[in-house]
This record gives sequence, C-alpha cells and structure tokens, in this order.
Amino acid sequence: MKKVLAIQGSFRENGLTTTMLKNAVREAEAAGHEVEYINLHKCNINYCKGCRKCFETAKCIFENDDMVRIAESIKQADVILLAAPVYWANVPAVVKNVFDRMSGTSMEETNTFPKPRLSGKRYMLFTACNTPMPFAKLCGQTTGLRKAVKEYFKTSGVKHMGTVICANTSKNKEVSEKAYSKIRKLVSRI
Ligand SMILES: Cc1cc2nc3c(=O)[nH]c(=O)nc-3n(C[C@H](O)[C@H](O)[C@H](O)COP(=O)(O)O)c2cc1C
Repeated sequence: MKKVLAIQGSFRENGLTTTMLKNAVREAEAAGHEVEYINLHKCNINYCKGCRKCFETAKCIFENDDMVRIAESIKQADVILLAAPVYWANVPAVVKNVFDRMSGTSMEETNTFPKPRLSGKRYMLFTACNTPMPFAKLCGQTTGLRKAVKEYFKTSGVKHMGTVICANTSKNKEVSEKAYSKIRKLVSRI
C-alpha cells in the first residue's frame, strides 16, 4: 500500500483534468492505496515572496497558511497525482505558486547542480488543452506545460510515471476511453 497525494489544479469540478484525477483516485483506492485529495482552489496559499530563506532552512517562512500542510503531504507521499490544465502554455497560477512555495522544501542549492530533497517519489500528470493535436505539441501548448512540470519534479528528485493529455477540449468535452485506459495502466503501476 502506497501513500498517494492527488492535487486538483483546475477550478472546474467537472472539467477534464479533475475528472481524470478523480478517476485515478477511485482506481488507486480500489487498489488499496491510501489517498489524500487536495483541491488547491479551496486552499489559502500566499504567493512566494522570493526571499530565498527556504533554500537555507528547507521550509517556507510563511507558517500560517495551507501551504504548511500541503508541503507536509507532499513530503509524506509516495506518489503525486497532479491535475493541471494548460493555461497559456503553462500550469495554472495556483499550481505554479505551489512549485514556487515548495522551492527550498524540494531542493537544496549548491555551487553546481541543485540537490533534490524529495527523492524516491513518483508523479503522474493529467492535463488538458483547447488546442487540437498535433498543434498543441508543435506550437508549445502541452510541451510548455510539460517542460514546467518536469523542471519542478525532476529538480526535486521526483520521477515521472506518465502523462495523460486531453486535447481539443472545446470539441471533445468528455475524457476519452483511451485516456481512461492509460490512467488505469498508470495507476496499476503505483
Ligand atoms: C486562463 C486560461 C488559459 C488557457 N490557455 C490555453 C493555452 O495556452 N492553450 C490551450 O490549448 N488551451 C488553453 N486554455 C484552455 C484550457 O486548457 C482548456 O479549456 C482545458 O480543457 C481546461 O481544463 P479543465 O477542463 O480541466 O479545467 C486556457 C484556458 C484558460 C481558462
């Protein structure tokens, strides 16, 4: 049994990424894993001030917002499920702010390469965008988001398990069978 942390980065309760996330959560629970669910839009999270104290202390200077328990949950998790739609070829601001606020908790600065502080964990990503394929890839929509997500997790030492993408979402309003099947496969590898 693994500890799974599901992070909802879309405000839309019935949106594509939330639907994929909730499906993955059901699969993970059915497989006997312990799942914690965090909807970032219900959390009170201050913006990162860029003070850089966390790089020395491995924790953020803010001690009175929801990021304290989110950081603890990320530290405790074996597997992180992240639902983040493409917003301007990147993650939504609320997700980016979590990455920013997690900086020193996730890695240590050195004179050369950063040293990961979250090694041993794995993550999967559920994303969606309006742009149809292959343009979402070719024009940098999903590629932009994936690069940002990879930068955070790779630097933190968290390994990628897989990504599920729903594209052309103004036309394809439901999660496809192919996407559900990929989610099942990924969750079975937890
Ligand atoms: C603020 C904002 C920015 C967006 N930027 C992009 C974008 O750069 N590329 C794109 O293809 N779709 C973009 N979209 C469309 C969303 O990615 C798309 O509607 C997606 O299905 C939303 O995911 P959700 O259903 O999980 O909420 C944007 C939507 C919003 C609200």
